[in-house]
Amino acid sequence: MLHASQQEDILTAAQILKKGGLVGIPTETVYGLAANALDGNACAKIFAAKGRPADNPLIVHICDIKQLYTLVRTVPEEAEKLASLYWPGPLTMIFPKADCIPDEVSAGLDTVAIRFPSHPAAQAVIRESGLPLAAPSANLSGRPSPTTAQHVLHDLGGKIDAVLDGGACSVGLESTVITLACTPPRLLRPGGVTLEQLRSALGNVILDPAVLNPLEAGEKAASPGMKYKHYAPKANVILLDGPREKYISYVNEHPVNAAALCYTEDQEFLSVPTVCYGNEQDPSEQARELFDALRRLDDLGVKTVFARQPKLDGVGLAVYNRLIRAAGFEVLKL
Ligand code: TXA
Ligand code: MG
Repeated sequence: MLHASQQEDILTAAQILKKGGLVGIPTETVYGLAANALDGNACAKIFAAKGRPADNPLIVHICDIKQLYTLVRTVPEEAEKLASLYWPGPLTMIFPKADCIPDEVSAGLDTVAIRFPSHPAAQAVIRESGLPLAAPSANLSGRPSPTTAQHVLHDLGGKIDAVLDGGACSVGLESTVITLACTPPRLLRPGGVTLEQLRSALGNVILDPAVLNPLEAGEKAASPGMKYKHYAPKANVILLDGPREKYISYVNEHPVNAAALCYTEDQEFLSVPTVCYGNEQDPSEQARELFDALRRLDDLGVKTVFARQPKLDGVGLAVYNRLIRAAGFEVLKL
């Protein structure tokens, strides 16, 4: 375990990466499992450590806008606009890839995903290594993304070279992913930069259907990560869509082997074990707490989890997108 507050630990992390190793690094969204993005062998180790399907491409992290132009073939005007507004920050953009991007990173696609994170420790490691860093979320595939260094160790301890502890992540959900390779641009994964913000910058932005709905059998995902079951706790999660009173009475009438994943305000009225994921009126708090809450649900050892469905606007759309996947798209309208 390395510590982001220690300059020598930042240098150690950078050294490991330069030698082709793997380091868990903090970002403002979630912890990433980083490797040299220009080294296909180093990136292959990421897939092995996570148990990640080989057809799911990686995001490349940069610490300077100038790096972007060395990694992609073209930068559309809309991308420059979004970069000026939201980089550094929780936004990933998809570009036509340059030849230096190994196939392991792009998973056979002719595009590459790029992000400029705002977390000072992430920037410091990229700068000190002198490398663009490929980094998916630093969880075992299928588990909730890690929002603390302890989550990373829990999932990947013994399989990676180091974790750089930079405290809890401030956004708590993975970055917004948008592709500008089509017209109008298309939101592939909602995150801390909201659909409303993207539309106010670019005008029309399409919400990819896979954000809210399961893929039809045989349908191709615009973003390969969307097709896998994600964030799944051991219990069967059911999203309950309705107002507080109905949620509380439904849960209290079905208490056998059950727990509630609820808002903080719901807790005192429930007669089953509860895990809270923030206040009803504060989607940013819900985003910050959701993944830790999903991990804590596993400790309760129950069979069924009744989750309170979040509102879909602003950052709430990202919270909903993760929860509906944790629930395997099982929703009960109250
Ligand atoms: O916030 C984040 O984005 C974190 C931190 C570490 O930066 N990273 C992250 O990576 O969430 P990962 O691998 O867990 O999710 C990346 C998503 C996947 O759904 C993947 O399929 C999609 O981005 N993606 C990556 N490259 C792509 C590409 N060229 N075209 C379409 N989707 C792509
Ligand atoms: Mg992930």
